[in-house]
Amino acid sequence: MYLGIDLGTSAVKTVLVDDAQRVIASESRSLATVSPQPGYSEQDPAQWIDATFATLDALKASHADALAAVAGIGLSGQMHGATLLDASLRPLRPCILWNDGRSATECRVLEQRWPALREVTGNKAMPGFTAPKLLWIAAHEPEIFAATKLVLLPKAYLRLVLSGEAVEDVSDASGSLWLDVARRDWSDAALAASGLSREHMPRLVEGCAPATTLRSELARRWGMIRQPVIAGGAGDNPAGAIGIGAIRPGAAFVSLGTSGALMVPTDRIAANPDRVVHTFCHAIPGMWIQAGAILSAASCLAWLARLFGAAEAELLAPLGARPQAPSPVSFLPYLAGERTPHDDPVVRGMLDGLSHGTDRAAIVQAVLEGVTFALADCRDALADAGIGIAEADVIGGGSRSTFWLSVLANVLSIPIHRFAGGETGAAFGAARLGRLAVTGEAIGDVCMQPQRIETFEPDAALVDAYAERLPAWRDLYRPRH
Ligand code: XUL
Repeated sequence: MYLGIDLGTSAVKTVLVDDAQRVIASESRSLATVSPQPGYSEQDPAQWIDATFATLDALKASHADALAAVAGIGLSGQMHGATLLDASLRPLRPCILWNDGRSATECRVLEQRWPALREVTGNKAMPGFTAPKLLWIAAHEPEIFAATKLVLLPKAYLRLVLSGEAVEDVSDASGSLWLDVARRDWSDAALAASGLSREHMPRLVEGCAPATTLRSELARRWGMIRQPVIAGGAGDNPAGAIGIGAIRPGAAFVSLGTSGALMVPTDRIAANPDRVVHTFCHAIPGMWIQAGAILSAASCLAWLARLFGAAEAELLAPLGARPQAPSPVSFLPYLAGERTPHDDPVVRGMLDGLSHGTDRAAIVQAVLEGVTFALADCRDALADAGIGIAEADVIGGGSRSTFWLSVLANVLSIPIHRFAGGETGAAFGAARLGRLAVTGEAIGDVCMQPQRIETFEPDAALVDAYAERLPAWRDLYRPRH
């Protein structure tokens, strides 16, 4: 029996997976994000721990026997967050998250200070990443910077509480701008450029390797027979890849979660930081993931649901199964700024083309299309790095919408495949990593592709209609800096 724990942005989700890779049970607890100033995004690390413990306590109550048999645990998590710990390993302040835009100035400083940054880290310095956040702390909260003894990504902090050890996996570490992504090790020059050293960093392991074990008192609390091994785990996107068996070069997939991404596993680095392609180590050795990442995807639909005071399903129902034509309304999904391709933390969203005749359905359709056009920008940035995409799988909450997947197939002009919900998701991928760390099985034997339940084929007339609309949609973007 294995556990996968995904420390997401909106919730912690824990799944219990048996030896036949069936999800036996799952529990989730939601998390709150605070924005003390516009463009800021923070979470209190204590709530990650409370939420995780609550999911495990609930599993103990409902599935005590299965939980008792857990041999391995995998962690997955929201990437890039800066959790700063003092000498007693206590958080010094709330964690600054992946979608926090405050450190644009520090990104410029960092790239000037260390010109090899893009070459070594494979990425452009962007406010979402961890390193510029530390420069911001040094400039604005110098006493906190001085007291910082350890810097952990969110799931490494969770692992510290679960095990007592500071360990991180190389996929999540790739989002820090402190990793030499080719060597899969910390870069001393990168750390020095942030005023840090290896002493501030956790030990590194591969995602499918054993990292540590669960504390004995926690194993007892949850009635576990032995102290389970905790695997390296992965950032949420690489963990999602493991969950759907995207372990071979070219196995492209789209994630429609809170944020969105178009990702392609590769067996060599094909970086394109100038077009804001992200380079992450994969959660398995010798592989990387090249990705276009957008900051707001399914969260745009959630925003609209709040605005209209309606459930998302209620908003989607009138649209039917597939679009007849693009919406007369256009939407820029930059509610939290954007990464690929603009790297613009201050740009904001836009609705264009509203009239007295505009109804709610036209706006809902425009929102789904706007997010999808942003993914077309990601596709073009990846193509510029020599990565072509002939078909893609899709994961994340947004993949429940048939209409959205039809838009995706037509905007990207490729077949899009969907899975049965249960097997997919970062938590399931994390559980697979937990299993690999215990059994040492062949990766391909464990990370199989779940059954595809549906394929959305592009329709020539709609492909043309969306291709015609894309340049006008792109013209709506005006940099604000
Ligand atoms: C990837 C990214 C997101 C976060 C939150 O670069 O920022 O995937 O991990 O989901």
